Amino acid sequence: MSDLLSSIALPRDVVERLLKAALDARQHSHAPYSKYHVGAAVLDEHGRIHAGCNIENAAYPQGWCAETNALGHMIMGGGRIARAVMVTGAGSEIITPCGGCRQKLREFAQPQDLIVIAGDASGVRAHWTLEQLLPASFGPDHLKN
Ligand code: THU
Repeated sequence: MSDLLSSIALPRDVVERLLKAALDARQHSHAPYSKYHVGAAVLDEHGRIHAGCNIENAAYPQGWCAETNALGHMIMGGGRIARAVMVTGAGSEIITPCGGCRQKLREFAQPQDLIVIAGDASGVRAHWTLEQLLPASFGPDHLKN
């Protein structure tokens, strides 16, 4: 974990705070259908951290993801730029944001600037930029003229 941590372009304590916030949020996950509990935490341009969990619904497509929830909290908390996002989920497969969440994150970040980190209770497991996860993205600049 420490090699991985030092390869992330963020202070170690910030990564640790993001991981704790995401794991704490995961405790609130409402995932009775998939049983796949997710917690996320977004770091905004003010250095504040906003957390969220996934919230499923008996009408399955109406559920929403932890990253979406965390972004909602960022907006309500006055943040407009996502600098980093930590997503946490259990299992042998390393969690990674779904396509819809990648696009939602794109709204609030330049893809090359947003650090996306995957973790679990054991620590950080992988990291990417949003550009790596969502290359050649469609974003707000496309609607400027
Ligand atoms: N999920 C998230 O909350 N974030 C991800 O990055 C991947 C998937 C949720 C959606 C659904 O509640 C459950 O995980 C299984 O797909």
